Amino acid sequence: MPAEAFVTRLNEQIAHEYAAHQQYVACAVFYDSETFPQLARFFYRQALEERDHAMMMVQYLVDADVEVVIPGVAAPKTTFTDIVAPVALALDQEKRVSKQINGLAATAREAGDFTSEQFTQWFIKEQVEEVATMSDLLRVVERSKDDPMDIENYMAREHASDAAEDPTAPHPAGAE
Ligand SMILES: [Fe+2]
Ligand SMILES: [Fe+2]
Repeated sequence: MPAEAFVTRLNEQIAHEYAAHQQYVACAVFYDSETFPQLARFFYRQALEERDHAMMMVQYLVDADVEVVIPGVAAPKTTFTDIVAPVALALDQEKRVSKQINGLAATAREAGDFTSEQFTQWFIKEQVEEVATMSDLLRVVERSKDDPMDIENYMAREHASDAAEDPTAPHPAGAE
């Protein structure tokens, strides 16, 4: 059985991951409506990854036979002043999630719940990548904000295809 404190925090994290999903959909829709198809595609894909994170956590709790709370989600920010703003917001969000995931790992460790601590390890690694991706992207959009087609070309070049399947990733609930 996972530690009660961990279950509580993991249920909270599920809400954060769903909120991240909604926020990235909002970013994608903003870029779509401004006709930046590559940036839109990137954020739609990021949104799906956040949903997967939530569903991996759901699967963990289902497997552990403890209560899963599918949460309501706070409304995302949907209006942005310029094309840099959604990326800046995304970087802030990823940094915040990194702290939350580290907090989850600490909660598991303090409770002596080593199984749950191990479950958090994949997410720690994932957050390092997500923060790096968003801070690279922020640098690119800031540098090229007056010439946005450069940004689109960069996205087409660097983020053209879906990331390769990660065999170490936890299973998202409901996935094939
Ligand atoms: Fe996530
Ligand atoms: Fe993320």
